[in-house]
Amino acid sequence: MTTSRGRHYTGLQQIAVIANSGLTFRRTYNAIARTVAKATDMNGCRILLLDSKKEYLTTVGAYGLSDLYIRKGPLDARKSLPEVLAGNIVVVTHAPTDERVQHPEVAKSQNVLFIAGIPVILGEDTIGELRIYSKESRELTEVEKDFLKASANLCAVLLDRAQLAQFRDRIDKSRAKATEVSTPPRIAVNPLKPTEFAHESEAEFAGLLDFYQIEWLYEPRSFPLAWNGAKISQMFTPDFYLPELDMYVELTTMKQDLITLKNRKVRRLREQYPDINIRLLTKKDFMKLLAKYGYGSMGEAKVEGVGRVLYSHTQIQRRVRAIARKISRDYAGERIVVIGVLKGMMCFMSDLMQYISIPVRVDYMDISHYSGDGEVVKITRDLDSPIGGQHVLMVEDIVDTGMTLNYVLAHLAAHKPASLRVCSLLDRKARRLANVKLNYVGFEIPDIFVVGYGLDYKGEYRNLPFIGELRQDWGGHSQARLTA
Ligand code: IMP
Ligand code: MG
Repeated sequence: MTTSRGRHYTGLQQIAVIANSGLTFRRTYNAIARTVAKATDMNGCRILLLDSKKEYLTTVGAYGLSDLYIRKGPLDARKSLPEVLAGNIVVVTHAPTDERVQHPEVAKSQNVLFIAGIPVILGEDTIGELRIYSKESRELTEVEKDFLKASANLCAVLLDRAQLAQFRDRIDKSRAKATEVSTPPRIAVNPLKPTEFAHESEAEFAGLLDFYQIEWLYEPRSFPLAWNGAKISQMFTPDFYLPELDMYVELTTMKQDLITLKNRKVRRLREQYPDINIRLLTKKDFMKLLAKYGYGSMGEAKVEGVGRVLYSHTQIQRRVRAIARKISRDYAGERIVVIGVLKGMMCFMSDLMQYISIPVRVDYMDISHYSGDGEVVKITRDLDSPIGGQHVLMVEDIVDTGMTLNYVLAHLAAHKPASLRVCSLLDRKARRLANVKLNYVGFEIPDIFVVGYGLDYKGEYRNLPFIGELRQDWGGHSQARLTA
């Protein structure tokens, strides 16, 4: 017992040194994995981090595990020992037959018998997992559990520090940029994913994916391509996996000799894994591909002023369809009048009504705001047809203070419709002044100014096929709020 405690004490001491040694992110975690494995007498250890949507686990450091085991494919966070992510230590004593293990066949082929998962918790949030592996059947002692918890805690603190460093790095970069003239805004890599990329182009690609809100995993899987007897002699690890598109991506430059080599590998992979969808992409190809998948091809010029994409074209369409289905169900057997206030709702209302399956009539109003003593709203274009006794659905792009909506609803209610409901694409509760009820909402957004998909800043950006955040440094916001 004393010797065991001594070993764990030394382990923690080593982790503290590693943590403070200024190693790169991946090396730090590899070294911690090694220390943890040695101190607990395990054959292997790895540290996994959850992506920002908490859907996938990615390996950030490992020791004693084969490349094949580490890159056995993206780990679905909901399927791979989900109790760990709920905050518990989970012990699997016979991995090949345990139904909680996501790739039991791989565990079997690697002779892994024992697996334990320890949650990596930052504050109150589980952000990842520490896993240990043994080829022998065994148990975890209380002392070992305490040691593992302490190690997991240190991993969490280190991740927090890595994020802070990336955040600083970004600030430094944007400061440097601010002093240069007319450089287009650079797209930053998601700080929640402290990935070490082998090439600058990969970091750039990841930045683009983040910008378009496309989930990605970096090198999550290696594919054995050739064998020498029972030993793997050739392996291929594609750069990225995009879960939403179920696609592997290998980036390529225009260098001809490299293309030939990669082409050969990709061809091999396709032959041996016909179900795997893999693309060899140059940056130009990638932009074209984005357009094809409905993420909109956005020229550099249009990115100007937009900090990040909040909702992609595909995400918006999915949500609009869902709302339209709900409306069609709620009003089943009725007919409705859909009313919009120009011009912000134009994209939303146009898409929404096409997905509604009950009879719809459409009407518009236009208003103007006067700022005299307090803000006064005035109707400059009223409805074409009467709405008395009819079911009215008011459609808005965004409800901010709620003052506009409040005024328009009072005006409509005076015409005595049979019912009056509100459907708004966006809801920004943070600035609400008027107490208005929203019956259907697309997305709740934080207190940021947004443009695109009908929403404007000084009359522009309405044509963007996505909703993006207007950069804070892109002129004042107060004026934009007045252009309805
Ligand atoms: P409210 O009267 O303060 O609720 O303002 C609502 C109107 O202001 C919306 O219909 C929009 O036309 C405009 N607006 C508010 N926030 C934004 C924004 O973030 N982007 C673009 N327009 C906005
Ligand atoms: Mg409006």
